[in-house]
Amino acid sequence: MLVSLVFALSQQSPASGSVAWLPAYFGGLESSITKSMLVAVLICAIILRIILGFVNDIIASTVSHQISESIRHRLYAKILTIPFQRFQRYERSDLINVIATESYSVASAHTGLVRLGISLGTIIIFGAGMLVMAWPIAVLAVMFGVVHNLSLGLFAAAYRRLGAASLSALEELTHLSWTTLQTLKAVKSFGLEDDHKGIFETLSKTVGETWRRSDRMGAATSLLSETLTFGVILTIILSSQVLPVDFRAALSATILLYRLQPHIKQFDSQLLRLHEIEASLQNVLALIAEQDDARKTAGGEELRHLKQEIVFHDVSFFYEEARMPAVRHASFSIRAGETTALTGPSGSGKTTIINMLLDLIQPTEGRITIDGKDLSTIERSSWLRLLAVSGQDVELMDGSVLDNIRFRRDILEEDVRWAADMACATEFIENLPYGFDEWLGDEAIRLSGGQRQRIGLARALAGRPDILLLDEATSALDEETEGRVLSLLLREYDGRTLIVVSHRPSVARLMKNRIDLRPATTADGLLYGG
Ligand SMILES: Nc1ncnc2c1ncn2[C@@H]1O[C@H](COP(=O)(O)OP(=O)(O)O)[C@@H](O)[C@H]1O
Ligand SMILES: [Mg+2]
Repeated sequence: MLVSLVFALSQQSPASGSVAWLPAYFGGLESSITKSMLVAVLICAIILRIILGFVNDIIASTVSHQISESIRHRLYAKILTIPFQRFQRYERSDLINVIATESYSVASAHTGLVRLGISLGTIIIFGAGMLVMAWPIAVLAVMFGVVHNLSLGLFAAAYRRLGAASLSALEELTHLSWTTLQTLKAVKSFGLEDDHKGIFETLSKTVGETWRRSDRMGAATSLLSETLTFGVILTIILSSQVLPVDFRAALSATILLYRLQPHIKQFDSQLLRLHEIEASLQNVLALIAEQDDARKTAGGEELRHLKQEIVFHDVSFFYEEARMPAVRHASFSIRAGETTALTGPSGSGKTTIINMLLDLIQPTEGRITIDGKDLSTIERSSWLRLLAVSGQDVELMDGSVLDNIRFRRDILEEDVRWAADMACATEFIENLPYGFDEWLGDEAIRLSGGQRQRIGLARALAGRPDILLLDEATSALDEETEGRVLSLLLREYDGRTLIVVSHRPSVARLMKNRIDLRPATTADGLLYGG
């Protein structure tokens, strides 16, 4: 309508009071419309359009950001709630990509769909206008629309392929960056800097190439749309003599068609963009569709203390897709208030047993009981409140020593310091330039293995757990320091439950009870000593 009005005004001589020659579709209106009314309508329409455009932008961006935010939250929550074993099967760098980058694809898809709807609505309104003005032209436009859609269909599959290729190239690039950061010391020690640089440049080129291809395809579809519109306009002009349409109406319809062209282009680009982000969307949806850990969501009976014993009843555990069980037919008991050593060669399933105790994984066969109650029927958080574990590898985070020991729990600074004393960590922490406030990167490269382990131990102790699990937690310490740590722990845990996994016979001997695991491959149905 705006087009027609502007068209009308531009053709009108300034002196004349009424618009006598409006296109035919306005019929008898012309005599009653004055030029000033027309100008007022035009100005109002333009202002309304500006306001509506502005409101639309604000609403669209708010909705889009809300969608992005909610998807990001759901993805992050999902990582925390999927079973630990499922999590281990994901590449960390892929997960970061999904949360940080690909989560936007859902908001993009939503924006795309909204724009698609708006463009479609505009196309329908313009089409109706054309139908009223000059139906033969509308018929021509519909024919053009069909050809146009068919040709777009040819592009759709290419866009989907391009989207998938671009995503996988980006994933490889992130993966390489991530592993380089994780293994930088090894890269430098083997003198592999140039090789890594070469691989990165190749991958980066591939990413750039997919983006360039996407731009080129965008330009090609835009050209296709322009060419088809031009083709249909040319057809109208050339056949205007033979078409049963009034010339002014034909002209207005043609202008309308021309005005419609950006909307068609927008429609095309949104449609193809949806095809392009399909791969990202699938990644996001696949992660969201992961089943939550049944144990995490299940309720159960609250447990306040371990009174008697933890018993493994003929427990076996198979990792997903593993051919051999990691633990086979294990039966033993761990008595409350006593110290127990869990020993066995590397790969015999000690860590797997600790993970089952932490309820990170559940037995494939058999069951674990706590004071006679099945672990699976106990409310998980009440069980975890009683336990703490410290392992061989300590997962340090970006933060100070204090942050790392406290680990986002509500723990008093004096308890942190007490735990550091117990772990014989204070002695080296106080030699750091900023002591407990010393900033450790997530890799804590300035700390030795033994120092990292002592921070991990302090972290486990700071919550003063009833049951302490040490999974080779002092393996990197020298024997003298290990001896000091263990004697402090034995004194502190006198009357409480301490489970220690260790290779060293000297450590195992310090514990009251001993459970010896043989490799699952050789011990068939063996009863473990208690
Ligand atoms: N996440 C996992 N996925 C598949 N197999 C695993 C996984 N973790 C450990 N295993 C396998 O299970 C067996 C027992 O491992 P683990 O419990 O770590 O032994 P230990 O702590 O006694 O050295 C090993 O053969 C190991 O390769
Ligand atoms: Mg282990």
